[in-house]
Amino acid sequence: MVRCLRVPLEDGESVRNMLRQSGFLDLSHQIGRDEDHLLIPIVGASLDLGYEEVDRDLSAIPRKETDYRKLLDIPKELLESLPSSFDVIGDVAILKLDETLVPHAPQIADAMMATNSRLRSVALDRGVKGEMRVRDLELLRGDEDLSSVHTEYGVSMEIDPSLAYFNPRLSRERKRIADLVSEGEVIADMFAGVGPFPLVICKHSSPSHVFAIDLNPKAVEMMRRNIERNRLQDRISAIEGDAKESVRDLPDLDRVIMNLPHMSEEFLFYALFKLRPGGQIHLYKILERDDLASFQERVLSIASTSGRTVEIEGVQELKTYSPTMSVYCFDLRC
Ligand SMILES: C[S@@+](CC[C@H](N)C(=O)[O-])C[C@H]1O[C@@H](n2cnc3c(N)ncnc32)[C@H](O)[C@@H]1O
Repeated sequence: MVRCLRVPLEDGESVRNMLRQSGFLDLSHQIGRDEDHLLIPIVGASLDLGYEEVDRDLSAIPRKETDYRKLLDIPKELLESLPSSFDVIGDVAILKLDETLVPHAPQIADAMMATNSRLRSVALDRGVKGEMRVRDLELLRGDEDLSSVHTEYGVSMEIDPSLAYFNPRLSRERKRIADLVSEGEVIADMFAGVGPFPLVICKHSSPSHVFAIDLNPKAVEMMRRNIERNRLQDRISAIEGDAKESVRDLPDLDRVIMNLPHMSEEFLFYALFKLRPGGQIHLYKILERDDLASFQERVLSIASTSGRTVEIEGVQELKTYSPTMSVYCFDLRC
């Protein structure tokens, strides 16, 4: 039996809304009907709303399983290694697995699609590779076209993760940088990919211009479409090329974003050359946690050989990369 309020039909809609908003609606049972009354299932303390409270037999609403791990039939000893979450870019899930789980990847993908109705495809991530930092993806289930539309802080981006780098886990970092930008700044993103930093910056702050460079022609094609999609053609210029060369042709800069975490310091000299006094650089780097201090010394030494004085204003640990390594952002001021 389920506790219900017996409510005249004409009051049904407003009472149901009020109960839902106040947390008293029982979401696990269907609403019933008794002649010209609705039987609205309730939870919690007795309610003094002027309607009769009755116990009735109402049908349960079938609950859909939302944890993909509950649908799997794999050896018990592997269950602990299953990831509790996975990245989703638009409607494409990117799955990272321990080697021991790879033989079960198709079954895992089926379970993910069964528990997430918004997924169109699931791909196995075999790592970010090469100069263009593109993921090696193997389609496990769904549509083989992995291009989809991803939304982040009000910016909508077309992304094909099999052709260009994108990491949805950096969304908060992109917003952090956007919030540091002052009106009228001239900014360069030396490794812009499909353009998430420039787009989030222009959506939430008012720089006068952002120059967005990338070596990967496919990433630049997507970035150009993303700039148009967000109607930011007058504030962002997409430039295809090597950042070392392309940055030379830019005007003086107030801020430079350097998100090439396995080797960004190799480009620091070129960024410093263009940075105005007082300007900021956000330098991303993957490091052994024990090497943090020595890397900071290295940054200061690169700056001094470039003839610039730099202060490290802040160090953010953004995410774990391996048991001993993390991805950091160094906020530098010239
Ligand atoms: C880690 S991804 C970052 C992309 C983007 N900032 C983001 O957050 O999604 C690094 C990018 O740098 C680009 N890249 C690598 N070497 C480059 C170079 N010498 N000049 C310009 N871009 C380069 C790659 O193609 C890749 O898109």
